[in-house]
Amino acid sequence: MNDILRVRVARVTREAEDILSYELVATEGGPLPPFEAGAHLEVRVPGPGDFLRAYSLCNDPEETHHYVIAVARDAKGRGGSNAMHERVHEGDVLEVKPPRNNFPLLFARSYVLVAGGIGITPILSMARVLQRTGADYTLHYCARAPGRTAFHELLSQAPFAEHVRFSFDGGDPARGLDVKGLLATRQPGARLYCCGPTGLMKAVRDAATLHRWPWEKVHFESFTAEGTSAATGREEQGFEVTIRSTGQVLQVPVGQSVLNVLRRNGVRIPSDCEAGTCGTCVTRVCDGQPDHRDTFFQAEPAGDQRMLVCVSRARSKRLVLDL
Ligand SMILES: Cc1cc2nc3c(=O)[nH]c(=O)nc-3n(C[C@H](O)[C@H](O)[C@H](O)COP(=O)(O)OP(=O)(O)OC[C@H]3O[C@@H](n4cnc5c(N)ncnc54)[C@H](O)[C@@H]3O)c2cc1C
Ligand code: FES
Repeated sequence: MNDILRVRVARVTREAEDILSYELVATEGGPLPPFEAGAHLEVRVPGPGDFLRAYSLCNDPEETHHYVIAVARDAKGRGGSNAMHERVHEGDVLEVKPPRNNFPLLFARSYVLVAGGIGITPILSMARVLQRTGADYTLHYCARAPGRTAFHELLSQAPFAEHVRFSFDGGDPARGLDVKGLLATRQPGARLYCCGPTGLMKAVRDAATLHRWPWEKVHFESFTAEGTSAATGREEQGFEVTIRSTGQVLQVPVGQSVLNVLRRNGVRIPSDCEAGTCGTCVTRVCDGQPDHRDTFFQAEPAGDQRMLVCVSRARSKRLVLDL
């Protein structure tokens, strides 16, 4: 791993049911590389799987002596979050890639922050900055129940309480936040930031479109590939993928990633984040036009010759992959 940073786990705290936070400090003491609200670390999760997993920083970027991340245990995942919960203890040393930010907090006259579940992590860092700088902001925090809400106590108290609105839906989104109602009015110069589960991000995107929020004022961060599609809102359609070496033709239906289809058909591709942020699953394209949906290639466009198969799809009916 290039640019490795070794950090010591100074404290592990239970933030809610199945959510632990980790305070990380430099092994030699002193300041850590700086970050801005919305940034994440990639953590080498200890264990046989050798997982690299992204975790958003939830502390105030002004605090240079530590990083704080919070991890929700995902029972349906491949084990990265479980290993963080089971194998990482106070005093351990972890390898991380320094902070990267695909979700920067841009200047605005006011802010609407919408967080769902563990999607609170980058949003909390933003709320801390906005609070410290006296900005006009409201944080709408959706979760199932108070006991499953990370940082519930912190956000229920001053100085945050007057800016935070909790929505507890008991697991039924229909009883949760009225997103359409929320976005029906927009203060001039407002920006909207949203991070949460796929359903919430889709509802926010649809409501923002309905109420004509300018697209450049609406910002999403997705923790999963499915969420990336919901956040971009681009038309989903099925397409065909051909494996160049074998000639095998596979169908990629709506709602499935190329990576998952390949995997299910026995084609192994290295992957890490599965959300288009780390670049690990980059694959050469011999023919066809990819539809890039990652955030990794933002600075340096990927063109038609390569794609990140965990999130990107096809503009053409068929792609030939150099596999
Ligand atoms: C920029 C960024 C920031 C993040 N910040 C945080 C954070 O602050 N806190 C946090 O807890 N998490 C965060 N995540 C998510 C985190 O990186 C991990 O994905 C998460 O901890 C789950 O890891 P896992 O190995 O347990 O599950 P993963 O294997 O990563 O699985 C996650 C989900 O992907 C789907 N999935 C996985 N494998 C398959 C498969 N083979 N077929 C179909 N679906 C599949 C499932 O829906 C599963 O629930 C972030 C992700 C990104 C990209
Ligand atoms: S696995 Fe990280 S970009 Fe695809």
